[in-house]
Amino acid sequence: MKKMTMYLYSLIFIAGAVHADEFTQQDLKLWKVEYESVVHKGRKVFIDPKLGTNTVTCNECHPNATNTHPETYPKFQKQLGKVATMAEMINWCIANPLEGKKMALDDPRMIALIAYITEERRGVTLEPGKH
Ligand code: HEC
Repeated sequence: MKKMTMYLYSLIFIAGAVHADEFTQQDLKLWKVEYESVVHKGRKVFIDPKLGTNTVTCNECHPNATNTHPETYPKFQKQLGKVATMAEMINWCIANPLEGKKMALDDPRMIALIAYITEERRGVTLEPGKH
């Protein structure tokens, strides 16, 4: 039974890979709606005075996501002393300027913040590691 299930999964996987670029209009519409709702949620989190403990918002220091540079990640960040993702840097800002509690990297609010910030930089060339 287990082997059979594995076999079926492999078949579905192979079929999926072969047809990976054939999306229906319905798929595309759904994904756009889902994506845009997460970006919208990200904007809300970005201006939420209750995100941290001191009412400071992300938007005060990064109006409309300026100076966030998502296109430069992963990169070495001196505040963290290592090569980090943007999510880790967002947590640094939550813990320090906002005096809040760090989020799990897969927290829906974290994903929304990343979506919003990245959307604001649409079209900018990826330059990982750049300062
Ligand atoms: C009091 C001002 C302040 C607030 C509020 C603030 N930040 Fe920052 N942020 C900074 C500073 C300072 C840095 C470090 C800049 C650097 O690395 O040169 C930074 C860095 C960042 C970076 C990396 C920028 C880069 O160039 O690599 C991101 C992304 C970021 N902040 C997102 C956020 C988010 C999201 C919030 C809200 C949760 C937030 N920040 C709140 C001041 C702030």
